[in-house]
Amino acid sequence: ETGFITLDNGFVNTGSCTSAVTFLNGEKGILRYRGYPIEQLAEKSNFLEVSWLLYYGELPTKAQLENFEKKVASFNKLPEGLETIISTFPKTAHPMGVLSSATAALSAYYQDHLGPNPTDNDKEELFAQLLGQVKLIVARSYRNSQGLDPIESDSSLSYSKDFLNMMFGEADDEVAKALDVLLILHADHEQNCSASTVRVVGSSHANIFATISGGIDALWGQLHGGANQAVLEMLEEIKNAGGDAEKALEKAKDKEDPFKLMGFGHRVYKNFDPRAKIIKVQCDKVLEKLNVNDPLLTIAKGLEKQALEDEYFVKRKLYPNVDFYSGIIYKALGIPTNMFTAMFVLGRLPGWMSQWKELREDPAAKICRPRQIYTGATERNYKDLGER
Ligand code: SDX
Repeated sequence: ETGFITLDNGFVNTGSCTSAVTFLNGEKGILRYRGYPIEQLAEKSNFLEVSWLLYYGELPTKAQLENFEKKVASFNKLPEGLETIISTFPKTAHPMGVLSSATAALSAYYQDHLGPNPTDNDKEELFAQLLGQVKLIVARSYRNSQGLDPIESDSSLSYSKDFLNMMFGEADDEVAKALDVLLILHADHEQNCSASTVRVVGSSHANIFATISGGIDALWGQLHGGANQAVLEMLEEIKNAGGDAEKALEKAKDKEDPFKLMGFGHRVYKNFDPRAKIIKVQCDKVLEKLNVNDPLLTIAKGLEKQALEDEYFVKRKLYPNVDFYSGIIYKALGIPTNMFTAMFVLGRLPGWMSQWKELREDPAAKICRPRQIYTGATERNYKDLGER
């Protein structure tokens, strides 16, 4: 549980770090935030409480949680200039591009937060501010893409219910609860690609807006957070081709074809992703509650069953990951496919911020500057043009 990993070839992976935020055991499919099993947090907690836990390391008292909820809700507006920037993006702009740009652009409106050494109070303020304002940016970009006026944040609503209300002008308690569980499940995940990016950017003492914007960009990739959108596109393709999952499985096994079964496999989990198990149960509950009969869920379950019995997948320990079922719930909640990865950002934000804070408070932390194994030309002398 030290965080340092010795690679097969004996190299200590200097890209790793020590961290006290999240513990993963990939072989056993274990995920804990600050020691608390993800299963208990998903069942008993809520997203802002989990955000506090990740950031401060302990579950909040009632008073701490109430103050924190009020503080996050107080960031219920975006700077006017930023609203204008968001409204000028084309309606077809991918929400991740809007989110990354708008988050970095916050640095233009909060110039007092650009210093290289934020105080403890700054870090507290920035945590609540980004949780509040990134939620606004996601909702605004959706309303803009639909040609709809923005809906103001309602601080009397819970975090997830306020988000859904800003998106659709209404929000059912059960649906908000389902979203809250999804956000909890996405809140942190050790040194994944985007969290590592946040650590790399943060290690140069870049401001928090630039740092989080870097995490958003890394998450966009289809091999990482972009997989939740790619899963739905893959399931739609299977449905449109007649619903036969077998073909997708065969395609995923074709070594010549770079196609991968989206939502399957993981760099760390060589067992079931514990989050996928929870989301699969949530899927059934939410779709039943909403009276949604989505053929994509049937296809997904069929694909999972076949893959888990297929020698290629079993041998490579390829199981469904967090992205395999999450998109089906987002779709049932009315969230458009191209926004699924933006939803992943909303969930992962507290994890990125917690790891950034941990890095910035580590007196031993240095700028991230990995080395390489040089494989290029040995020394040689310059040749004049006429000699080449
Ligand atoms: C997330 O790191 C995190 O924690 C990320 C994340 C988080 O919360 O931050 O958990 C979120 O990003 C989850 C992953 C979402 N991505 C996808 O679902 C995309 C599809 N999955 C794959 O692209 C892939 O599984 C990766 C990228 C996730 C992992 O890729 P690796 O590191 O190449 O996997 P591997 O080394 O374990 O592969 C072993 C073998 C290889 O074949 P061989 O060379 O042994 O013949 O399995 C094959 C791979 O080609 N393989 C797949 C596959 N994933 C791996 N074959 C078909 N379909 C797949 N999905």
